[in-house]
Amino acid sequence: MAESIAFSKAASREQIYAEITPQIDALIAGESDLIANLANVAAVLEEAFSFFWVGFYLKKGDQLVLGPFQGPLACTRINFDEGVCGHAYSSLKTVVVPNVDEFPGHIACSSASKSEIVVPMFDTAGKAAGVLDVDSDRLDDFSETDRLGLERIVHLLKGHLTA
Ligand code: SME
Repeated sequence: MAESIAFSKAASREQIYAEITPQIDALIAGESDLIANLANVAAVLEEAFSFFWVGFYLKKGDQLVLGPFQGPLACTRINFDEGVCGHAYSSLKTVVVPNVDEFPGHIACSSASKSEIVVPMFDTAGKAAGVLDVDSDRLDDFSETDRLGLERIVHLLKGHLTA
């Protein structure tokens, strides 16, 4: 397994996504443990983009439960009808929130979080299995580039999320 990732530090986000995505693919291909893989994906995204918070919530019973992440401590359980995470999970669609204060029901784990993107994850049977959540301490920090880049990375995890 590679012990580090390589990317162009001064490059655009689009370029960095292009550089890290095949490396993430290679990183998780040889490891069957889901938590180990999610932990490394969170670490790579943090290293590449210095996000304020990046991590996973996994479906456990009838809630989303905090999984591997990088950043300040976060709320541990989210109901499917709560917050940006619950909305993305239930709608099966990526949700981009330019200003979290304007999203009804946003769960503020940290007052420093200003914008957010949440990408649903699907298992091998195509059912929603959790979400990838990324928070920024800047307003309007996420664009179509992030949606596409993060959805591609989440897609790589699909084979690891058994139904
Ligand atoms: N803001 C999220 C909760 C998770 S934290 O941001 C880590 C939400 O509204 O679902």
